[in-house]
Amino acid sequence: MLNVQPGRKYVDATLGGGGHTAAIVELGGRVLGLDQDPDAIAACRSAEAFQPALASAQADPQLVLVRANFIHLSKVVQQHSWQPLWGILLDLGVSLHQLVTPQRGFSFQSVGPLDMRMDPDLPNSAATLVNVLTVKQLEQLFREYGEEPAATAVARRIVSARPLATTDELARILTDAHQRRRVFQSLRIAVNDELAALSAVLPQAFDLLHPGGRLVIISFHSLEDRIVKNQFSAWIRSGRAVSLTDPPVTPGPEEISANPHAQSAKLRSIEKI
Ligand SMILES: C[S@@+](CC[C@H](N)C(=O)[O-])C[C@H]1O[C@@H](n2cnc3c(N)ncnc32)[C@H](O)[C@@H]1O
Repeated sequence: MLNVQPGRKYVDATLGGGGHTAAIVELGGRVLGLDQDPDAIAACRSAEAFQPALASAQADPQLVLVRANFIHLSKVVQQHSWQPLWGILLDLGVSLHQLVTPQRGFSFQSVGPLDMRMDPDLPNSAATLVNVLTVKQLEQLFREYGEEPAATAVARRIVSARPLATTDELARILTDAHQRRRVFQSLRIAVNDELAALSAVLPQAFDLLHPGGRLVIISFHSLEDRIVKNQFSAWIRSGRAVSLTDPPVTPGPEEISANPHAQSAKLRSIEKI
């Protein structure tokens, strides 16, 4: 989808475990990789597979890794003179590493602190939110970010059970796996201000792209996808971009059985005119 050409510059704004970056580097593309999680940057920086690209000529590196929130995309791209830019990838949400590391507190399936910060320097963890917000604020959070039908009941239950410190303490007062998924998702979105970050990065990404460059976004729930779909449609309608994915790309049964986390993924891509 990124149409990677050797020697051209790309941005992987959600480096994570570096899977997509590795694929771009393998095709000869040059990658500026961003992640707000210092663990992701450190793991990729020490990964054997990335050493040749990281060690490439200082003046002309093939791979540069930067710890940054992608809301600062324009600034980071300019600081590293990473233009002309031919493709930008956003693979949204949490990485598998974050999800399966209990200390990060993202999963209701393991016991850990109720944290959920992708960037550990963020001021508020999920525990802060559940222990400090009012019933009304919690209810709104679960309704807006989790589309939770029992938002009021969940908010009340949390307030009477507080203080809550761990993932299992929260999971125990939720009724089933569906509710746990929705409540954990909504807290994660709020802790990391994910929808605001996505809305803020899209216009920057589009402006930074060279004509003919591509923007590729993988989203994992309808709130994210709606933001991407609406913004892409506006650029397409105004004749500034063409869609490369009509309908969006979704995983087939084989991919889902090999990687169940891909189940709700939707990939949309445009090319700037
Ligand atoms: C789904 S993972 C990406 C996985 C990656 N594509 C791979 O191949 O391994 C998403 C990553 O994006 C990071 N991330 C999410 N929102 C971010 C933001 N606003 N700024 C920077 N990084 C972000 C997360 O910390 C996480 O490591």
